[in-house]
Amino acid sequence: MTLANYPMKVNSAIFVKSSADYAQCPPMDKPEYAFIGRSNVGKSSLINAITNHSKLAKTSSTPGKTQLINHFLINDNWYLVDLPGYGFAKISKEIRQKWEVMLSQYLFKRLNLINTFILVDSRIEPQKSDLELMSKYGASELPFTLIFTKSDKLTTNKLEKNLTIYKNILLKQWESLPEYIITSSESKRGIQDVLNIIEQSNPLFDPRLIPYTD
Ligand code: GTP
Ligand code: MG
Repeated sequence: MTLANYPMKVNSAIFVKSSADYAQCPPMDKPEYAFIGRSNVGKSSLINAITNHSKLAKTSSTPGKTQLINHFLINDNWYLVDLPGYGFAKISKEIRQKWEVMLSQYLFKRLNLINTFILVDSRIEPQKSDLELMSKYGASELPFTLIFTKSDKLTTNKLEKNLTIYKNILLKQWESLPEYIITSSESKRGIQDVLNIIEQSNPLFDPRLIPYTD
């Protein structure tokens, strides 16, 4: 019997590789958790906050910095994945379609993907692209956790107001609200909650379900 690492702590975090598509990703030998959301929502910052590294995932105030699928190995035991952002104003149709194909392949072929954290900015109203992405997950019965980012940039009142608006819009689409966490990479709010979800979900990974590849 091994002692559970509770509460989950990050003891090691290593950048593994950047991949242009799912086929280049590391072997599916460990459970993995993806972070997805519009450009600039705070995906890379959240990964850095979770791993307690200021520069593990590259952050930028210029949208579109992360164009590849980036794998990070945590505690030698599971992967965090920083996915390319979407929703640029000036993106060509061709690049958008490429992104959609890359994402669909990643979501459906990456059999070790246990959960996706879908990030939305807690300061802005629900965006069509985010709601569509959640619908895609729902229709395909893929699990996700909704993450409200940058909560430090709002007063408690304004945050409450925005959450109520968001929940009401979600309830038009969903019978019940998806699991959600309010986070801030600055104040570290919600970081342990994300880690707790990962800790609870890790046992769902069954390596026997992954086909052997050389
Ligand atoms: P792309 O890689 O372009 O898709 O963006 P991203 O989603 O990875 O966003 P990133 O983590 O690079 O953050 C974008 C900007 O928001 C940076 O200037 C961050 O410093 C800032 N930011 C991210 N999270 C937070 C947060 O919780 N609070 C505050 N105040 N700023 C944040
Ligand atoms: Mg990024």
